[in-house]
Amino acid sequence: MMWNGDDYQARFDRIAADGGDVHGEAELVRSFGPATVLDAGCGTGRVAIELARHGVAVTGVDIDASMLDTARRLAPDISWHRQDLVGLDLGRSFDVVVMAGNVPLFTPPGTEAALVAGVAGHVRPDGGRLVAGFSLDRGYTLDDYDTHCGAAGLVLEARYATWSRDPYTGGEYAVSVHRKP
Ligand SMILES: C[S@@+](CC[C@H](N)C(=O)[O-])C[C@H]1O[C@@H](n2cnc3c(N)ncnc32)[C@H](O)[C@@H]1O
Repeated sequence: MMWNGDDYQARFDRIAADGGDVHGEAELVRSFGPATVLDAGCGTGRVAIELARHGVAVTGVDIDASMLDTARRLAPDISWHRQDLVGLDLGRSFDVVVMAGNVPLFTPPGTEAALVAGVAGHVRPDGGRLVAGFSLDRGYTLDDYDTHCGAAGLVLEARYATWSRDPYTGGEYAVSVHRKP
């Protein structure tokens, strides 16, 4: 899928201008107190840029050139990488890896397990976290995701219905927090 970064960002700018909260993901990530965060499937950098504003050292990775053009224009000082999360190897790990905005639903069908392995490989051992939110009505299930996380060495720590930590009771969206032991 090809994205238009400026159009994508404009949607969030409109929500913010109307008083909506577009930083729930960053807020949940910040609650873990990370010094370093990988925004995996960063798009236009909505989450990474907000984290950087709060002093977190962030790196963004996305495969889409238009999304990254917008991210670079908005925050030229952040480290943005145009790479596939499938097979990703940045040669380092992060306190938190976040996938906001349905990232596993946009990777080519059949690459979900490899995508999860690619991002899980960047979670710091001894307590680093992978935090991901995605819709559950498009064929990729929580069972699939937990299996892929488990195969990549991650253990489920918490699951919410929203990025504000509302309890998950079986709805069509979930935010999952997995830890690396
Ligand atoms: C709906 S956007 C979310 C963007 C951003 N995380 C946000 O929440 O605003 C999904 C993003 O995931 C990226 N993506 C999906 N599969 C990917 C993959 N295999 N490698 C890198 N990026 C991927 C897409 O290019 C797209 O920018």
